[in-house]
Amino acid sequence: MASSSPSPTFMAILLWTLCALWLGPRHTLASTRHYLFSVRLKNMTRLCHTRQVVTVNGMVPGPKIVAREGDQVVIKVVNHVPNNVTIHWHGVRQLQSGWADGPAYVTQCPIQTGQTYVYNFTITGQRGTLLWHAHATWLRSTIYGPIVILPKRGVPYPFPEPHEEIPIIFGEWFNVDPEAVLAQALQTGGGPNVSDSYTINGHPGPLYNCSAKDTFKLKVERGKTYLLRLISAALNDELFFSIANHSLTVVEADAIYVKPFTTDIVLITPGQTTNVLLTAKPNPPKTTFVMAARPYVTGQGSFDNSTTTGILEYHSPSLGNSSPSITKLPLLLPTLPALNDTNFAANFSRRFRSLASKQFPANVPQTVDRKFLFTVGLGTNPCPNNQTCQGPNGSMFTASINNVSFSMPTTAMLQAHFFGQSAGVYTTDFPENPPIPFNYTGAPPNNTLVMSGTKVEVLRFNTSVELVLQDTGILGAESHPLHLHGFNFFIVGQGFGNYDPSKDPAKFNLVDPMERNTAGVPSGGWLALRFLADNPGVWLMHCHLEVHTSWGLKMAWLVSDGTLPNQKLPPPPSDLPKC
Ligand code: C2O
Repeated sequence: MASSSPSPTFMAILLWTLCALWLGPRHTLASTRHYLFSVRLKNMTRLCHTRQVVTVNGMVPGPKIVAREGDQVVIKVVNHVPNNVTIHWHGVRQLQSGWADGPAYVTQCPIQTGQTYVYNFTITGQRGTLLWHAHATWLRSTIYGPIVILPKRGVPYPFPEPHEEIPIIFGEWFNVDPEAVLAQALQTGGGPNVSDSYTINGHPGPLYNCSAKDTFKLKVERGKTYLLRLISAALNDELFFSIANHSLTVVEADAIYVKPFTTDIVLITPGQTTNVLLTAKPNPPKTTFVMAARPYVTGQGSFDNSTTTGILEYHSPSLGNSSPSITKLPLLLPTLPALNDTNFAANFSRRFRSLASKQFPANVPQTVDRKFLFTVGLGTNPCPNNQTCQGPNGSMFTASINNVSFSMPTTAMLQAHFFGQSAGVYTTDFPENPPIPFNYTGAPPNNTLVMSGTKVEVLRFNTSVELVLQDTGILGAESHPLHLHGFNFFIVGQGFGNYDPSKDPAKFNLVDPMERNTAGVPSGGWLALRFLADNPGVWLMHCHLEVHTSWGLKMAWLVSDGTLPNQKLPPPPSDLPKC
């Protein structure tokens, strides 16, 4: 009798084993995440100004994309607005999926009114926070949202598991249509009008007129730790951010883990993301803790010098909402650096180091195949028809890399490349070095005119690149947050003044440099980067201050196919928009 039925223990073990066998592999298998982005107009009111804004699914910020490392993400974008639209998945490597990268006229023609395009890519070797945003004209002022990449199932974070994870995304609000602001600036040649407020998760906060109730509240429980996914989708300004009386521990940036460090203040440029841990106090004083962001400014033009604020609100579930009258408590404001604190900016960026561990190595190229020196900065174009424009001395503002201001083609460069039809679309003669060397950060030259063209730098597959970005003092030294599509780069060095190729390389960090997709070229200084060109396609690189991009501070790298099948750019999807 006893031998005929297995013991309950045995059955339990058998069941457990079967479950493990059945579920185990499923857990590690990547999945496909589907999203529908309906681009449509929506009336929105901020600061008592109502206007129609271009949104994704009627939301600003737009929907959050969540995926695990290794997942495939499929986003169907349907354009219901009059504007031409594209979406860029900022920081996603897009390995062999360049057709899904998004910059208008670079990897695709825009999605026109009534059209649909399906972005399809796989997230490989990245985990943390990124963002998505429109990549045509200034539409990203309202078309932006978070990308959250979780580690593979069962893989822990290399830092304490947070109680909760909260995206905090910075933006800029304009009381008027930003498309009109851009059009006016390009027509007059002057600097564009500035935004009317900064926003935290879409809310300007109470320091603005007619905005008292439009405030982001971060609700925390005593003693618990939170992962704040800080994202900057601001248009034209870098931002300092701080929370009164609370330190932040930086653990990740641009979807790369960081050796943790603690700071009271974070500097975040447009296009950057920074994950920080915030530990709520076990016994907070009866105070309203304010979080605030305001700009870091180095340029000479006008800028939005306002401050956006939100509130850190303590509540305890056992006591109900402990502070219904929270706004009556004394306000505690954080201290932020001076608006032009370039030393803070330089010291802060130096604190970022890759984990460089066995599990998360820093694969910085130790040898270099090709070296480039690119100047980045402003310049002028003559005012057309002998008129007087509103730029410097009656000219028009422009911006350039190695004195080439990028002119937007009228068809997509990646298509032209793939089908061998580049003639008339782009040329392959982007200068490897400044055409005329000068004292880049000294007294500006008299001639500030730039040339324009659609030029690419061609790289053979798997070229290891060293790129020094040198700010110029033409029309004023200025910090430029440079963003590279399709790759992460390692920041091996940075400094003030002119880069010195005989002395500076000796100081390069080739051990644990930070790996990012966006980094500030110091105002009046330089930044040395290395990356491996292991991704075939056409990849834009540009200043992430939208005004500078619009003025032409951009160029493209053309990385050719490798010899192996998995080193080639596949053919375009059949629904790729036409120009
Ligand atoms: Cu976040 Cu080319 O952009």
